[in-house]
Amino acid sequence: MKIKNLKKIVAKKALKYIPKNKIIGIGTGSTISYFIKYLGKIKNSIQGAVSSSNNTTISLQKNHIPIVKLNDVDYVSIYFDSADEINNNMDMIKGGGAALTQEKIIASASKKFVCMIDHTKQVNVLGNFPLPIEVLPMSYKYVTKELEKLGGIVKIRKNIITDNNNYILDVKNLFIRNPLRLEKKINNIPGVISVGIFSQRKPDILLISTKKSVKTIFSHN
Ligand code: 5RP
Repeated sequence: MKIKNLKKIVAKKALKYIPKNKIIGIGTGSTISYFIKYLGKIKNSIQGAVSSSNNTTISLQKNHIPIVKLNDVDYVSIYFDSADEINNNMDMIKGGGAALTQEKIIASASKKFVCMIDHTKQVNVLGNFPLPIEVLPMSYKYVTKELEKLGGIVKIRKNIITDNNNYILDVKNLFIRNPLRLEKKINNIPGVISVGIFSQRKPDILLISTKKSVKTIFSHN
């Protein structure tokens, strides 16, 4: 089955976690764009959505889904998003779509987090997917040197300015055996806005589409 179809199937399955009359958070990416299309058909069942990127905002608007700002709500009931890589412990790499900072904020501000992936994103050790890091433009050379000290091979993502007017560094050659420790370490480098390791805020519910079915895994956080 094509990856595109696996993404559609898992996005449809996630609809069952949409709570009635609540504020929900929405991630960014191709899986989420299928989810938003399905959500558009039942848009009256939610109060509104907090968007994680300009692209997601455009998709929500096209589907006439009311958008609310994170600062205008008391809490977000549930956050829906995908990931680039996930290990058996539900630590993830995100940020392939350059939206990691707002995604991490909304995921952290949400009571629950539903992550939907196709099975190709499951790995034993994180790091085959280059780790995205959002950095302040004036700091990118310094941050690059600090990441090289950790063994990373760093490339600045070409022609990308994030929604927050920053740069993205993509870091290869990191075999991330302790994601929580590395997340904190990279967060501590001055100039880093956020790192695409999601270990402090992992999903509560993981949906994985395989060729045969969609598996559901509940975290024991
Ligand atoms: C965007 C993300 C996405 O969740 C991740 O890149 C997966 O995207 P897709 O659904 O297109 O495979 O982190 O910043």
